[in-house]
Amino acid sequence: MLELKGRSKSITVYPLSGMSLLDMAMKHEIDWAFSCSRGTCARCRCLVEEGMEFLEEATDAEWDRLEQSELEQGYRLGCQAVIKKGAGAATIKAVNRPYF
Ligand code: FES
Repeated sequence: MLELKGRSKSITVYPLSGMSLLDMAMKHEIDWAFSCSRGTCARCRCLVEEGMEFLEEATDAEWDRLEQSELEQGYRLGCQAVIKKGAGAATIKAVNRPYF
């Protein structure tokens, strides 16, 4: 299951491989902050509380935009964090945590 927590709304749905966490939030009308959709603004930053292993590796944009300590703590950019193939039965939990 994919659990996404926006600023005032949450959903629990089946994760769809190849989609980013931001794609999933938008598809389900979650109030997930974003601006650029290409890894530069960090408005879509989120804390992955569970299931990081079911997401593709951090992209170059994430390494450029986030601090290493944030990545180690489980922060990702929602527009860059793509659900891996075969993760349909996975449990992934993420909370939108923009800086401001
Ligand atoms: S929407 Fe700008 S970094 Fe993700």
